Amino acid sequence: MPAPALHVIVLAAGQGTRLKSQRPKVLHEIGGRPLLDHVLGVARELGARCIHVVHGHGADAVRAWYDGGTPDKAVKWTLQSEQKGTAHAVMQALPDVPEAAQVLVLYGDVPLVRAATLEPLAQVKGLAVLTTVLAAPQGYGRILRDEDGAVTGIVEEHEATATERGIREVNTGIVAAPARLLKRWLARVKNDNSKKEYYLTDVVALAVKDGVVVTTRVAPSAEVMGVNDRAQLAQAERELQRRQAEELMRQGLTLRDPTRFDLRGLVRCGKDVTVDVGVVIEGEVHLGDEVYVGPYSVLRNVKLGAGTRVESHCVLDGAIVGKQCRIGPYARIRPDTHLADEVHVGNFVEVKKSRLGEGSKANHLAYLGDADVGRKVNIGAGTITCNYDGAHKHKTVIGDDVFVGSDTQLVAPVRIGAGATIGAGSTITKDAPPGALTVCRAKEQRSYPGWKRPQKRR
Ligand code: UD1
Ligand code: MG
Repeated sequence: MPAPALHVIVLAAGQGTRLKSQRPKVLHEIGGRPLLDHVLGVARELGARCIHVVHGHGADAVRAWYDGGTPDKAVKWTLQSEQKGTAHAVMQALPDVPEAAQVLVLYGDVPLVRAATLEPLAQVKGLAVLTTVLAAPQGYGRILRDEDGAVTGIVEEHEATATERGIREVNTGIVAAPARLLKRWLARVKNDNSKKEYYLTDVVALAVKDGVVVTTRVAPSAEVMGVNDRAQLAQAERELQRRQAEELMRQGLTLRDPTRFDLRGLVRCGKDVTVDVGVVIEGEVHLGDEVYVGPYSVLRNVKLGAGTRVESHCVLDGAIVGKQCRIGPYARIRPDTHLADEVHVGNFVEVKKSRLGEGSKANHLAYLGDADVGRKVNIGAGTITCNYDGAHKHKTVIGDDVFVGSDTQLVAPVRIGAGATIGAGSTITKDAPPGALTVCRAKEQRSYPGWKRPQKRR
């Protein structure tokens, strides 16, 4: 008999009061992605036929986020307009779940649970509950067992006696059961408790009453931590970062300090890549063999060729960088920049939407915007492309082997012919011919002997 189709129900209707935020809780991010996105990810990993997202608080914002991404036919949205408890939330989705399906309930604010932990749960025949053991179990539902260790029920903190509160095995909230049974039990759940809510946890006692086996699995507590406040959000972020860093190191990346590395996206690394402390990687980043990324640099959606070094305190965004380049310290590379092999971009140099040919250098204090720079070009310190006339952007085209002297303004649109030399301090407003020296500054240098500096008045 084939395994029943898996339907995951994600509870994500809660407000998250303790975050004190305008944003719905499940849209808060770890690793640069909303909490909910992590949960959808694990549901997909499990091969869920359908993922029902029960949403309520901030429903529009949650939907807007989702609609902005890649559509997924497996995701189905269920609105719970009033939050009457976890059982009530699950009930909103159940009409869309076929009798023969297996149901797994996940929480939108429990983002770190792994597919490997959930897999055995999703295959259990009766009712399965994921538990964990906590030194400080406050706030959680406690797992009740008889003398033989068999589960008899779950008691919520508010309803628990002093002895029950001493129990350290707690309900993670994650449960699995055949839809047929879940539907039967949920129809019988009442709200006669201190919160006047329908508790999903009540299905445990109902299963016991019906003689259905209740299985538990104990999860590592770090995997099932919930995010309810900013401190837990930060804790979840650290745990995620730790996992990612460990995985990258297993793949052969050198992290000078894995606790001072943040990945908010995807990184692909070649052999012997070294990432120094405090580096932040966002979006999709490719690092070629032997790449070095210096301390406190930020890389977002970039591709770095083999052997390239990014020194400390650089910000690279949306750029393709060739092999054996030298960037920084303190360089800023902005979107649509393409650096060929062996390019040097030094300190306090900003490059935007520009192409630099092989072996070209801009080593100090320069701005290159909308520029097309040939091979083996030297851009002197203080050189600026004046690419913006207040209304439009214009291009600067610089041929191969050009030498641009220091403190030059290249007023675009302008072209500098191959092999040209531009004298330092020039303001170039017209095209410069190839092979020649072009200078544009005060003709002669004058000196005034005996000239006195102004004195401060007494
Ligand atoms: C719940 C469990 C408790 C468990 C704890 C683990 C119940 C009755 N209690 O308690 O045993 O130890 O989680 O964190 O289930 N939600 C909705 N709609 C609702 C109510 C809740 O979508 O009407 C969602 C929330 O957004 C949240 C999740 O369900 O993601 C849990 O709800 P919450 O109110 O936090 O339950 P707890 O009191 O923490
Ligand atoms: Mg909670």
